[in-house]
Amino acid sequence: LTQERYPVRRLPFAQVSEDDLAALERIVPGRVITDPEELEAPNVDWLRTVRGSSKVLLRPRTSQEVAHILRYCHERNLAVSPQGGNTGMVGGSVPVFDEIILSTTLMNQVMSFHDVSGVLVCQAGCILEELGRYVEERGFLMPLDLGAKGSCHIGGNVATNAGGLRFLRYGSLRGTVLGLEVVLADGTILNCLTSLRKDNTGYDLKQLFIGSEGTLGVITAVSILCPPKPSAVNVAFLGCPGFAEVLQTFSTCRQKLGEILSAFEFMDAECMKLVELHLRLASPVRESPFYVLIETSGSGAGHDAEKLSAFLEQVLGSGLVTDGTLATDQRRIKMLWALRERITEALSRDGYVYKYDLSLPVERLYDLVLDLRTRLGPRAKHVVGYGHLGDGNLHLNVTAEAFNASLLGALEPYVYEWTARQRGSVSAEHGLGFKKRDVLCYSKPPEALQLMQQLKALLDPKGILNPYKTLPTRA
Ligand code: FAD
Ligand code: MLT
Ligand code: ZN
Repeated sequence: LTQERYPVRRLPFAQVSEDDLAALERIVPGRVITDPEELEAPNVDWLRTVRGSSKVLLRPRTSQEVAHILRYCHERNLAVSPQGGNTGMVGGSVPVFDEIILSTTLMNQVMSFHDVSGVLVCQAGCILEELGRYVEERGFLMPLDLGAKGSCHIGGNVATNAGGLRFLRYGSLRGTVLGLEVVLADGTILNCLTSLRKDNTGYDLKQLFIGSEGTLGVITAVSILCPPKPSAVNVAFLGCPGFAEVLQTFSTCRQKLGEILSAFEFMDAECMKLVELHLRLASPVRESPFYVLIETSGSGAGHDAEKLSAFLEQVLGSGLVTDGTLATDQRRIKMLWALRERITEALSRDGYVYKYDLSLPVERLYDLVLDLRTRLGPRAKHVVGYGHLGDGNLHLNVTAEAFNASLLGALEPYVYEWTARQRGSVSAEHGLGFKKRDVLCYSKPPEALQLMQQLKALLDPKGILNPYKTLPTRA
């Protein structure tokens, strides 16, 4: 699968021997997995588009164990692929050949939580949804949320610099992550696990590892700032007659809702069709060309409701919105969010998915979807657009019955060239991983690429950490 779709040659790393297995067994006793059946799932990515052939998976529990593993692998020149919840969208979390899979599954302990500052310190393998429950019981909220919350690990989120559904309100992990503990390729433990809001003592090293996709170090623990849990949350799900109206609704929303706006997501009619068809979820509003999901989060239910109704009155009165529904209770809020969050799942049931995650000027966000529908014609099963409109982030997805090289040829480099012409980003939030590493040049100048290569060589001189990922084949 991998080599056929994405041509690549194995680099001259050592192969795992019986002696290696015995040495690793001494480091993580009983947690060296070699059973082919157990290795099946961690060798395949969530989208089922890439497959590795690793024969060994390790499940350390502590940072010291990770350090021992990496020291050993570094010495022996064995390649390692770090893996969290394996929900990544760019093939970064699975081995390409026989790299050892280093799983954070058992590194799932909360280390501390401070209920005045809201600073949570935990191991990298904690599942995002479980952390959410933990901090919510204490009156706080995780600053990020995404559809994969039930399986993704906080370490994986940090390693991909995941954006998600709360980005509009709480910003990037680059701001909310206060500190990290990272094990470097040679086994050195870098403890920058501070809980300080402000710390200008030299270079901010943690930023190097946020979004580095396992290529510069293994994140073993995370210190993250959690905001207070808002006491009033409302979700409006609205139908819009065109994309121009979606944009005007967004502008109106920012003016009228101001500081209580916490999410502005959009999806087109094709997405709704797929969600209805594959997941049997029903649209809560009349059929429309576009749908937007608007969330408000605040501290005064009365105040927020007043603002929201003034906003709704305006958008409905002016025809920007043709139908809508409002939820204030947990159950209905979840139901409305599911329509947006589960698009990824609906798409994956539709066939092979060509997935693009682009940052674009918001006014031009939907142009490419329309353009591609014409360009691809009946060759594509569906061409859909959805995403984090409030962040200028389009998810453009094309489905087909099966992988088809000629369809890929019609999509690439066309999509990347189009995006580069808008000075957009070819990866807004999913990273580059294995599948997108060769398109980095559409969004970064050669000088930036060269510096990235130099940093990689400095931190991982033997290149054992997640080889074949993030950086292009040839710089
Ligand atoms: P994995 O998939 O296991 O790994 C991802 C990358 O990080 C790999 O390169 C891996 O090697 C590396 N890595 C993992 N753990 C570590 C570690 N401890 N140290 C160093 N490197 C590590 N992304 C968004 O940005 N926004 C979304 O809204 C969003 N929604 C999603 C919805 C669904 C249904 C799915 C399936 C995915 C979604 N994603 C989204 C993709 C997103 O990248 C992941 O869900 C998440 O951030 C990855 O976490 P993970 O633990 O699964 O990491
Ligand atoms: C989302 O916003 O739903 C995710 O980033 C996943 C996807 O792009 O499908
Ligand atoms: Zn997304």
